[in-house]
Amino acid sequence: MFKLVLALAASVASVASAVAQQEPYMPLDAPRVNVSLFVMSRCPDARICETVFEEVLKQDHILSKIDLAIDYLGHIDEAAPYGVECMHGDLECAGNAHQLCVRAHAPLDKFYATLSCMNYANFPGVIGTTALTRKCADTAGIDWWRSGIGACIEGKEAERAGRLAEREAWLTGTEIKIPNVLAEEEIDEWADADALDPLAEEGRKRLVDSVKYTIKEGVTKSCTIRIASTLKHSPRECIVDGGVWKGCDDGHAASDFARVIKQEWANLQK
Ligand SMILES: *[C@@H]1O[C@H](CO)[C@@H](O)[C@H](O)[C@H]1NC(C)=O
Repeated sequence: MFKLVLALAASVASVASAVAQQEPYMPLDAPRVNVSLFVMSRCPDARICETVFEEVLKQDHILSKIDLAIDYLGHIDEAAPYGVECMHGDLECAGNAHQLCVRAHAPLDKFYATLSCMNYANFPGVIGTTALTRKCADTAGIDWWRSGIGACIEGKEAERAGRLAEREAWLTGTEIKIPNVLAEEEIDEWADADALDPLAEEGRKRLVDSVKYTIKEGVTKSCTIRIASTLKHSPRECIVDGGVWKGCDDGHAASDFARVIKQEWANLQK
């Protein structure tokens, strides 16, 4: 047993030293650059930003240098089914809530893999349906129920039933079935909330809080990318509006965002 512990300790130490070699001066709690994406889940401009940012996150050492927030545009309307009016309908509100649930309950790389999967194919397609979000989370290697995402979107009751079904499947050696993703023709993208998949309390709350935050930040365009700056007087901002990049003083290629993030990060470490 003691030997096993030693061997484990040695292997942890060698992983740690490999990491340390990549990033020699980086303590685990080093301050990170705040990056915000302000989007809408069924908005083509948002997809453009999210696609570029996927490339940014793939660049060396970027994941460990940023805190990425994603927030959604909409209007607060207490009479609306989700408490929020979304530009592309209630289905978009649901999609926004789903993405917020994944962001809150999964690590950044898995959240982003889920987001990219949702954006893939016939955009905006069936974004906002629970089956698509679940399939994408599953593809990203996220455990729907154990992560807390299932409860955030479908509620505690559904989680209990879901876990029970998984246990049964495990005991009987059968495969766990996840719901089929609908074809685009099978959904009405302008359907009212009551004709859509139910959305649990946590997801609704995250949606309302996010929209309030976006309003408070004064952001009015999807997509807006903001990189908090300690090198400039205001955040670095870049917008995609009607497919056109605007106001991106530092450039809008993935390599431009990565360069700026590295500069800001270096300044935070001083
Ligand atoms: C990042 O944002 C958080 C709050 O969202 C704030 O507390 C923190 O100071 C910010 N960090 C930097 C480096 O701007």
